Amino acid sequence: MKFAPSLLSADFARIAEEISAVEGAGADYVHLDVMDGRFVPNITWGPKIIGDLRALTPLPFDAHLMIVEPERYVEAFVAVGVNIVTFHLEATPHAQRLLAHVRSLGVKAGIAIDPQTPVAALAEVVEYCDLILIMSVNPGFGGQSFLPRSLVKIREARALVAERNPQCEIEVDGGINAQSLPLVAAAGADVAVMGSAIFDAADPAAQLRTLRALLAT
Ligand code: DX5
Ligand code: ZN
Repeated sequence: MKFAPSLLSADFARIAEEISAVEGAGADYVHLDVMDGRFVPNITWGPKIIGDLRALTPLPFDAHLMIVEPERYVEAFVAVGVNIVTFHLEATPHAQRLLAHVRSLGVKAGIAIDPQTPVAALAEVVEYCDLILIMSVNPGFGGQSFLPRSLVKIREARALVAERNPQCEIEVDGGINAQSLPLVAAAGADVAVMGSAIFDAADPAAQLRTLRALLAT
């Protein structure tokens, strides 16, 4: 299992320290939630901030674009050093074209689905994906409760990629904590995104190590 701490719940006044802590504790990706106030009812940051963060760590940057018309912005995020560009299936009418375009820019292409979108909606594009992101909460905010039905979707996604694109990673995002993490892992996820479970802890590095240890037992 890979771990992708989400900076949404980090303290941006101490962001270098926060990133350094999770890097030191063995984070695999830095998950960056880009929100536009339109696709989701919240606003975060764009390429300028991500470009500034790029200097702080060699970890892969995993950008989760919760924006309408993502096709307008993928090049800007690649230009500032994003390594995995994930956009929402619900946010663009031509997902296959955008996945292929992202790959043509030399980075990994990911596609995210909201809780109401069935995994079957990915059947025609899975070959063009390096990552499938199953949202286990409605996107927009950290600290929400894990939706249990997501476990069924993770298993369905595992079956889909096993048949059609075994290299494709399955990432799960939303409400993952010490209780839900083992269930997410058992259902077949490759990457766990965690925001509040890591950064709301008094010691995020120790918390990440504790969460990882849960899967070792
Ligand atoms: C929510 C974001 C998540 C968020 C998860 O829309 O996509 O990445 O940071 O936060 P937690 O882990 O607190 O549910
Ligand atoms: Zn996210």
